Amino acid sequence: MNLELITQLGYVVAAALFIFGLKMLGSPDTARRGNAISSVGMLVAIISALLGQGIVQYEYIIGGMLVGGAIGAIAARSVAMTAMPEMVALFNGFGGAASLLVGWSALAPDAGAFTLTTIMFSILIGGVTLTGSLIAYGKLSETISGAAMTFGGQKIVNSLIVIGVLVSAFMFINNPNDPNWLYAVIGLSLLFGIMAVIPIGGADMPVVISLLNSYSGLAACAAGFAVDNNALIVAGSLVGASGIILTQIMCKAMNRSLTNVLFSGFQSVSTTVTEVEGEIKPISVDDAYYVLEAATNVAIIPGYGMAVAQAQHVVKELMELLENNGCEVNYGIHPVAGRMPGHMNVLLAEADVPYDQLLEMDEINPRMESVDVAIVIGANDVVNPAAREVESSPIYGMPVINVADAKTVFVLKRSMASGFAGIENPLFYKDNTRMLFGDAKESIGGLVREFS
Ligand code: TAP
Repeated sequence: MNLELITQLGYVVAAALFIFGLKMLGSPDTARRGNAISSVGMLVAIISALLGQGIVQYEYIIGGMLVGGAIGAIAARSVAMTAMPEMVALFNGFGGAASLLVGWSALAPDAGAFTLTTIMFSILIGGVTLTGSLIAYGKLSETISGAAMTFGGQKIVNSLIVIGVLVSAFMFINNPNDPNWLYAVIGLSLLFGIMAVIPIGGADMPVVISLLNSYSGLAACAAGFAVDNNALIVAGSLVGASGIILTQIMCKAMNRSLTNVLFSGFQSVSTTVTEVEGEIKPISVDDAYYVLEAATNVAIIPGYGMAVAQAQHVVKELMELLENNGCEVNYGIHPVAGRMPGHMNVLLAEADVPYDQLLEMDEINPRMESVDVAIVIGANDVVNPAAREVESSPIYGMPVINVADAKTVFVLKRSMASGFAGIENPLFYKDNTRMLFGDAKESIGGLVREFS
């Protein structure tokens, strides 16, 4: 068998492993294995590429793999769970940069119009992904202001950049010997990435990151065509398609359209004041314990604050103590609780909470009336009844977990501060709500001590 055939077979195996891996990521039980299988797929793809593509020098490639692998491993281990979206943004950006460079390096004097077109796509999308992701990273990590940066005529300027980049790409395809058109495409793509993301507020960055993730896949796919590499085409298409599906899921969970996310600021309306009635009723750990001790059905609704407090392990301890006390415990998971897709699932999985106790919003809501105590742990927007009750609220229409339907609600947070959307939460003022103020880990730790 010749090397070319082995390489192509390797790519088929890699593509199959990617697809199986991706499928397995769909269920928490199989997700870890799916991740491992996809990684093996990538290893097979890399080895196949190294076998067949007329590699000139292995030293640089191996050196690059070692350095890159080491940086990736250190970054993955050291990054805090709450900073994961930023890290994903950076990785997307690097993916875009890689596609840009691969496309650029694929330029050959004898390249035909099709190859040149795919090269232009990989440079264009890769460039936009690179700088767009860096801005998203900056906004999320608060290295730059998260506010939507807008100015008069912004849409016209952006449209001119898009026209400029398309004209330059067209001109380069027709005059491949004139590098100035190529430099124009690179420069304008990089500029457009910045211009497209600065008008979007920090609050919408997770959606933007998911979209940029999709772009990084498309850029890789275009680069795959440029260098005639089937594995890259398949992997790029999978990333492109899954990124766009995830983007749609996130928009749906926030009851917003993608156009709305990309072209109008969420926080520009978030200063709306919601009229709230009722008063705040704080509760102590001791008193909360007595209520929980008598409960037979408890729902735990975690949010971003659980991630900040890193309370997942102590939550699991409380869950076990409640269960030993004859109480049924379930978790209500909102699709955009926290700051990244699956944020709560990942944290609870880390604490070994059984998956069958994690109920999605649509499953837990109909059961809420039979719940004795709903414990809201560092969640705010995802349990805000204004989304159902207050038409003028910026989050009106967003599906939320209806904790107020439970007999009693405990809200664990440190203060009366608002959540991500920056709005008042009428839940805190409801008759059946008690506020357990303090860091979530400490409050739950206190309850655990009372029980044990
Ligand atoms: P948020 O509405 O952001 O509320 C989190 C709450 O946690 C805050 O009110 C904060 O109140 C509390 N908190 C922070 N640290 C705490 C600690 N150490 N102990 C106890 N409480 C603490 O969170 P959520 O309900 O999870 O909603 C998520 C929001 O993010 C939604 O608006 C959603 O649209 C948005 N978003 C999410 C995603 C994804 S994919 N998950 C993507 C884009 C946007 P205190 O400061 O008073 O403690």
